[in-house]
Order: sequence, then C-alpha cells, then structure tokens
Amino acid sequence: MNLKALFRKKDINRLLGETHYEDEMYGGLELSRNLTLRDLTSLGIAAIIGAGIFSTIGNASAAGGPAVSLLFVFTAIACAFSALCYAQFASTIPVSGSAYTYAYASFGELVAWIIGWDLLMEYAIGNIAVAISWSDYFTSLLAGLNIHIPAYLTMDFLSAMRGHEEVSALLASGTALNAIPQNLQSAYEAWQTAPALGSVRLVADLPALLIVVLITYLVYIGIKESKRTANMLVLLKLIVILLVIAVGAFYVQPENWSPFAPNGVSGVLKGVSAVFFAYIGFDAISTTAEEAKNPQRDMPKAMIYALIICTVLYVIITLVLTGMVSYKELAVGDPLAFVFERLDLGFMAGIISVSAVIAMASVLLVFQLGQPRIWMSMSRDGLLPKAFSKIHPKYQTPSFATIVTGFVVAIPALFMNLTEVTDLTSIGTLFAFVLVCGGILVLERDPDHRKRAGFKVPYYNGKFIFPFILLIVLAIGFYFNAEGIFNFLRFEGGWEETQHKLPMLGFLLVCVALLYYTFKNNLSLIPVLGLVTNLYLMTELGITNWSRFLAWLALGLIVYFFYGRTHSKLRLENDAPKR
Ligand code: ALA
Repeated sequence: MNLKALFRKKDINRLLGETHYEDEMYGGLELSRNLTLRDLTSLGIAAIIGAGIFSTIGNASAAGGPAVSLLFVFTAIACAFSALCYAQFASTIPVSGSAYTYAYASFGELVAWIIGWDLLMEYAIGNIAVAISWSDYFTSLLAGLNIHIPAYLTMDFLSAMRGHEEVSALLASGTALNAIPQNLQSAYEAWQTAPALGSVRLVADLPALLIVVLITYLVYIGIKESKRTANMLVLLKLIVILLVIAVGAFYVQPENWSPFAPNGVSGVLKGVSAVFFAYIGFDAISTTAEEAKNPQRDMPKAMIYALIICTVLYVIITLVLTGMVSYKELAVGDPLAFVFERLDLGFMAGIISVSAVIAMASVLLVFQLGQPRIWMSMSRDGLLPKAFSKIHPKYQTPSFATIVTGFVVAIPALFMNLTEVTDLTSIGTLFAFVLVCGGILVLERDPDHRKRAGFKVPYYNGKFIFPFILLIVLAIGFYFNAEGIFNFLRFEGGWEETQHKLPMLGFLLVCVALLYYTFKNNLSLIPVLGLVTNLYLMTELGITNWSRFLAWLALGLIVYFFYGRTHSKLRLENDAPKR
C-alpha cells in the first residue's frame, strides 16, 4: 500500500476553486455574501443554545452543584482557542465541509476521512440528543395542557429499565412512591405499563422520532435557514433565557449555593460532557464562510461574540437554577421548566416549555442541514458513493444524503439514552477541535501561510509560556488535589483500574511531546493551548466513551480502506497517466 497516498493533501488554491458546491446545493443560485457580523453571531447563538442549556445542564448541576458554573467558564476558554483556529481556517478556506475540508488541506486524505466520519458523531449523534431533549419538553408541555402520551412512548428503553430497577429497590426499602423524584416515577410507570413482547418491553421515544421526521422533511423539500428566521429564533431563545434569569433571580435562596461544590472536583467534572455539549455549534458558523460579507474580519469576531454571550448566560443561569432549588433536585430532563413548576409558577414553566420546543427544533434544523452537506463534500471527493452528492431535481437539496441523515438520527432517537448520546457527541466534537487546533500548527509550517489573506490566529511564541502555564496548572492541581494526583500515580488495582487511567496517561504523553515540539519549533501558543485543553476535556469522558469512540473510528477506517481509498478522486487523478 502506498502510505504517501493516504496523506495526500488537497491544495488550498484548488479548494478555493471548488466553491460551486454550495451553489449547486441551493439550486444554481449564486450564494450572495450578505451575512453581517450580527447575522453570523446570531447564527452561532442559534446553533449553540439548545438541549445543553434546556436539558443536560440538569444532570450536570445535580452531580456538581453550583460549581458547575465554573466549569462553564473553563470550557468556554477551551472553546475560544478552537474558535480562533476554526476562524483562521474558515477565512483561509471559505468552502463547505468545515473541519473535514480543513483536515484535507492540512493533514491529508486519511485524517480528513477520519474527521468527516467523526463529524457524523457531532452532527448526527448530537441531533439524536437534541431530539430526545425536545421530546422531554414536548411531553411536559402536552402534560401541562392535560394531554397525556403513555409514558412508555416518551422515553428510551434504558432509562425506563434503569429507573424501574432503582424505584423497585427504593420501594422495597420502604420509601413511598410519591417521595421518589418525578423522573424516576415516570420511568417506573413506563416500564410497568409498556406492552411486553416476551421478556422485551416496548419502550420507545415516539416524539423524538416524529420531530426528526418532520425536520428531515423540511430540510428535504429545501427549507432555507433564512437569516430572518434564525434571528427571530435567537431572539426568542434569548428572551426566554433572560426571563428565566430575571424571574428566577427573585427566588434564589443563597443558602442553596452552599456547599458550592458538594461533590468536589470529581463531581464537577462529571458535567464535562454536558457542559461542553452546550457550547457545540459555534463551529457550525464556519460552514457559512462563503455567505459572509467579510469572513476574514467577521468570522472570528462572530464566533467569539457568540461564545461570550452564551458563556455569560450559561454561568448566570446555572447560578440561578442551583440557587432556586437544591442542586440534588435538578436531575431532570427539563430543568428550566422544572424549577418554576417546583415553585408553583406553572405559567412560567409553560412559557419555557413552548419556547424550548421551538428553540431546540432550530438546533435540529441547523445540524440536520449541515450533516448532508459534509457528506456531500466527502462524496464529491470520491470518499463516499456518488449518491450522497445527488441533488434533487425539483427541491435542489442533497436528497439522498438528507434521507440517510434522517434515518441515522430518527431510528436511534427512539431507543437511545440521552447521557450516552451526549457523551458520544462531546467526545467526537472535542476530537474535531483537537484536530483543527493541530491543523493550524501544521498550516503554520507552510512557508506560504503568512502570505495568504485572511484572519490569522495571533501568534505568541509558546516556547517558554507553554511550559510556564503547564507548571502553574500542575502547582494548582497539587494544591487542590494532591491526594488525587498521588492516587493516580499508584498502579495497584490491576487492569480493571489501570484502564481508566489510559486516557490521562495518553494525555500526559501528548503534553510531553508538545512541550518538546513547542520548545524546538517555537509553536504558536493559542493552537497549542487549544489542543491541550480540548484533549484534557476528552480525557474526562471516561474509558467507556473512549472505547466507543475508538470503535466508531475503527469502523470508519474499515469503510475508508474498502471504499474511500480506492475511489478517492485525488488519488485517481494523481494515479492517472500524465500526458
Ligand atoms: N449546543 C447545542 C445544544 O445544546 C448542540 O443543543
């Protein structure tokens, strides 16, 4: 096998000549450059605010307490480093395909394939998570209107089974049913009332399936995310969040903030995946680089503004939520509505549910539009079958890819568990961020790099600053958690225990390698910090997620070696006899 061919890179100038992709997708119309800084920022917020803040923040706060607000700040910093790197790529190579395209230009075909495959996790699996949360809000909205869907048609199998086991144990120990949290009661009811096929219970999340079918249909017939719709939805989301903050602030009881981190650092870190998930989406702005009036100037600003606005809102909302009720009560799928219901403010809960249902549908729409677009890019490069870039003659959308996306999201949404899909989405997206930051380090070694127009990640020589920062972090780590660090270095529990240390060990190795290269090659500080912080967040996601993630990548590699490698356009062109 020709190893070099696996790392064949797409020329940046060539990529720039391929922008007609977008035009064809939208029916041969010229994409006009009319997105201003405000529109871009608004698009970013449209994609960011969704299931994360409306839903998964509940479990994160229940595990970490009010201190989860600090995790939001740390995660935002990691995202900001990646945002700058995305911005540089988006303004240097303003074509479709996002991180997949960037990887093709910086690392070559194999890594591009891996990242394209990985983006499936971000977009498709992320949408499964959003659909599940949507369903939580939708069912509680209907319940508020006195319309009750049987519980076994509103949740996934695993949640019902686990909830049933937990409640059975509590009942056996003498706890009264009405003293058990509402979410567990619903799971118990779902399992008890579900029709049984032999020993299998038929539990499925029907609303999640239905919303995906509806959104896929809209995307299929060519609905365009017009900037006015996006702006309106963003306004709606912001109003709701501000309303929660403004009204909720009156009900905050400061004693709920103490203890601030009831389960210590480890409790806070349990929320990494959920908190990171809440930020996913700012990277999606990079796909609109071609439609921006001035991508060089506005793209980085828009990403950073969207991040800052969301961070401020997220931090305040976490403090308000954990101040209104005890953090222990927040392990629910619709925490924003829940806290108001809990304080007998049913009217507010109703408003929040209605808005959440609309707001989350907009996140679904953005990602359900994005996924086929990435597949289309991959298909045009020959890495996926031609059908994926087929354009519908009437609707002028990538019809086949859209339908496949619909299936890939809708079917698992029926059965999968929210935590599991959130974790997979987060690990997949973090990996994309790590590669994009790494991509900038590679791009910067290209002698032509500085000559190209567009935004550049500000260069600060990392030679001394990076080791210094690592030292400080290490010192802080020792100060707060010396015992944890010593425990980590003790290898006593055999494989059972050691395997959980593998991600962290890998991370430490990468840090050592980066220290060496940063010192030797004067690497740029911001991408280095982006790479390290995102990789660190990945290590917090646990060995189970790593195993699933690696299995997913392995599957991708099989597809590549059996299909993409031999059909790659770049390869076929390069191998064609020269005339
Ligand atoms: N950040 C997006 C959300 O929370 C994916 O729904």
